[in-house]
Amino acid sequence: PLIRLEDYRPSDWLIDTVDLDIVLDPTRTKVRSQLQLRPNPAGHAGAPLVLDGDELTPDSILLDEVPLDPSLYSLSPQGLTIQAPPARAFSLRIETTLDPGANTKLMGLYRSSGVYCTQCEADGFRRITYFLDRPDVMSVYTVRLEARKAEAPVLLSNGNLVAAAELPGGERHFAVWHDPHPKPAYLFALVGGRLDHVRQDYVTADGRKVELAVYVEPGKAGRAGWALDSLVRCMRWDERVFGRNYDLDVFNVVAVSDFNMGAMENKGLNIFNDKYVLADPLTASDGDYASIEAIIAHEYFHNWTGNRITCRDWFQLCLKEGLTVFRDQEFSSDERSRPVKRIADVRTLRSTQFSEDAGPLAHPVRPRAYKEINNFYTPTVYEKGAELIRMLKVLIGEDAFARGMDLYFERCDGTAATIEEFLDCFVEASGQDLAHFAGWYEQAGTPTVVASGKYDAKAKSYTLQLAQSTPATPGQPEKKPVVIPVALGLVGKDGDLPLSSLSPALKAGGVVVLDQPSLSVTFTDVPEAPAPSLLRGFSAPVRLELDLADDELLRLFSADSDSFNRWQALQTVATRALVRAGKGDQSTLDGTATALAEAFSGFLAGPALADPAFAAQVLRLPAPADIAREIGRDVDPDAVHGAHRRLSAAIGTALAGHLASLRDSLVERGPYSPAAAPAGRRALRNEALGLIALGAPAEGARLSLAQFGEADNLTDRLAALAAMTLIPGAEREELINRFGELYAREPLVLDKWLMAQALIAEDGTLTRVKGLMNHPAFSLGNPNRVRGLIGGFAANLTQFNRADGEGYAFVADIVIALDRTNPQVASRLLGSFKSWRMLEAGRRAKAEAALRIVGATPNLSRDVSDIAARSLG
Ligand code: ARG
Ligand code: ZN
Repeated sequence: PLIRLEDYRPSDWLIDTVDLDIVLDPTRTKVRSQLQLRPNPAGHAGAPLVLDGDELTPDSILLDEVPLDPSLYSLSPQGLTIQAPPARAFSLRIETTLDPGANTKLMGLYRSSGVYCTQCEADGFRRITYFLDRPDVMSVYTVRLEARKAEAPVLLSNGNLVAAAELPGGERHFAVWHDPHPKPAYLFALVGGRLDHVRQDYVTADGRKVELAVYVEPGKAGRAGWALDSLVRCMRWDERVFGRNYDLDVFNVVAVSDFNMGAMENKGLNIFNDKYVLADPLTASDGDYASIEAIIAHEYFHNWTGNRITCRDWFQLCLKEGLTVFRDQEFSSDERSRPVKRIADVRTLRSTQFSEDAGPLAHPVRPRAYKEINNFYTPTVYEKGAELIRMLKVLIGEDAFARGMDLYFERCDGTAATIEEFLDCFVEASGQDLAHFAGWYEQAGTPTVVASGKYDAKAKSYTLQLAQSTPATPGQPEKKPVVIPVALGLVGKDGDLPLSSLSPALKAGGVVVLDQPSLSVTFTDVPEAPAPSLLRGFSAPVRLELDLADDELLRLFSADSDSFNRWQALQTVATRALVRAGKGDQSTLDGTATALAEAFSGFLAGPALADPAFAAQVLRLPAPADIAREIGRDVDPDAVHGAHRRLSAAIGTALAGHLASLRDSLVERGPYSPAAAPAGRRALRNEALGLIALGAPAEGARLSLAQFGEADNLTDRLAALAAMTLIPGAEREELINRFGELYAREPLVLDKWLMAQALIAEDGTLTRVKGLMNHPAFSLGNPNRVRGLIGGFAANLTQFNRADGEGYAFVADIVIALDRTNPQVASRLLGSFKSWRMLEAGRRAKAEAALRIVGATPNLSRDVSDIAARSLG
């Protein structure tokens, strides 16, 4: 069944309070639920009560404390319907029995390494008890948990702890939690198990004492400190920057090892994939420290953007996700380097969202229809959704944006809101009409902006022509122009030139708003021929086609005041040559290598060391997958990969001396710190190692093995491993084995080890990956293992896309097998086929055949059949 946005109507019934009494047991957990219902004044009077339920059967049902006669209700695989409920407020008491140990879908109540935990977003609560499982039904919850003390000494739920005691006999105990804030069912959570924790007291800016704690598996408390520290920092930041204070007496974070996604913002009880909590220098990389900080912040920020203000329906998912990603990006930018964070985010946006937008799974930031909502937790909803907030801020200005946010928090607090209600706050705060801007939420596809400029030396004027177009996407053949803020500058020999123009399209702060198919802006008093610096800070999620010669791009690299565009300038130079070479014309590759090597060496000799994290980004070429996406059709992955290797190797060779002395100058002294500055130095040092490994393999191997032996942190060990994976031979295999033994008892590190091997761009990789499925640490039951090994392989451009189709067949088989136990992880993995249509005909046919085999498999989950159908559609 297709669910459509335009079919939304309010619930006929409301649930004011929920009282849960849950007696935890590995195979027979008892759930007693007491609901206080009443007719919704906004719904249909006299409507039946249709409660959602998934894989449930009721043990008993009482209506106003009287057993409900079986003739008065009916059961279906979707739930429980009471055809003629009383047309007034009444209570329901429903008992169900669950088997959390058998719940492999990791939705609802399940066990992870013996710990009871829950995941209810988007529709998991209906796997716990019968309910109106929709985000606009908000209730006050009181939850009593009971368990054997030995099995679950820790019992947590949402809100504040109101009672806890041992039960007579001393073997069992209980805890009662009360959450005063009405919430939708998707924010419910419970945890029960043996867990260690670290804790800290916190006082909010408005004076509330809060107990913060991070719970982890026994013995791992030593790895929970960074998450707790990140939590304190992001709470202060939200007070300072958005004026948001926390609103309960406790805030708990729990790390579990089996989790479908990254983490979940359950009210007062965030549950995390342990990958995004646990960190110490030898088991977490600099990247892990940064993602833990970002995701702790993301989930915490949801307390206001998601929980206090939730979504009316799941079409509004970007209302909380896009906005919360924007907030976590801003937090990380303030904690670290803003330009480096922006570059990293844009790399991710392009690789994940642009590729989604260019393929069969493209959808608007606010989808209009879905079969399975769990398939819409996508880069488009999250990352493009965040870009829309960022553009809004550029368009109306910082002050109006801040006033709009304040108005939103004030006006929509306690409600289940829509994008329209959100945007109205900014219309009021700015006095601007945002109707055209709102089109971004409805239209899928990445717009292309074509720009060209002309300097008139006599008139001292510069005319910039901008035109936009958006390619057709599934279900949207015709596209309208969108509102594109183009932040820009004109760069002369010595830097930025002053901007003046009579065109109304030029707004304050050097922003040209392109809201028509095309536009021309003439700048006056331009003293010299400028190089245009367009989309500064990546001011809009678009592709830019700009006809600038390489030497003008090189000028931007050295003279642009905008760091993002300095980085972009060299990326563009590299991308052009790689696109040409990927299409078979290698003629410009060596010249480009020389030009880039020259630019790098000047840069490395000069200012680079002032900001090593930025320098590392400069040195990192666009990935082969980015080049494939730019080529866009009839792609030969081997040609793209070959070009990428050749360019990298040529740069590595040309810069060999520079890179070696750079590495020496960046050696860290003193103990490991995950702070941005030392992490930036490691990033640059390791970027250099990668180039050396390709340019001079023997030297690269020597340096990698030395670095592996000396490293006091996982970042440097992983970089050594990654560099060695570029160099076939016995030494590589030895290092792989050594790494595997060293970390045999560290599953999260083994995930990276599995992935590093799955990413090797060689014919033998498929066999290697199949062999690694038999590694004692691997299991199809754990999402992190699957993402590491199989997800890694599916991201391997040349090997997933093998010409013989064996890569597709392998991943398709795993999708089919996995679908029987965990449909969400299976459907995510099937999403790896999202770019199949851009490949050359032979591979395209093989990918299509694999997709058809998946699609034709009997008894597929809705998750996988939806992705299969849309991928083929
Ligand atoms: N709301 C969570 C987050 O972004 C993601 C949970 C998604 N879960 C799911 N089963 N679709 O922080
Ligand atoms: Zn989120």
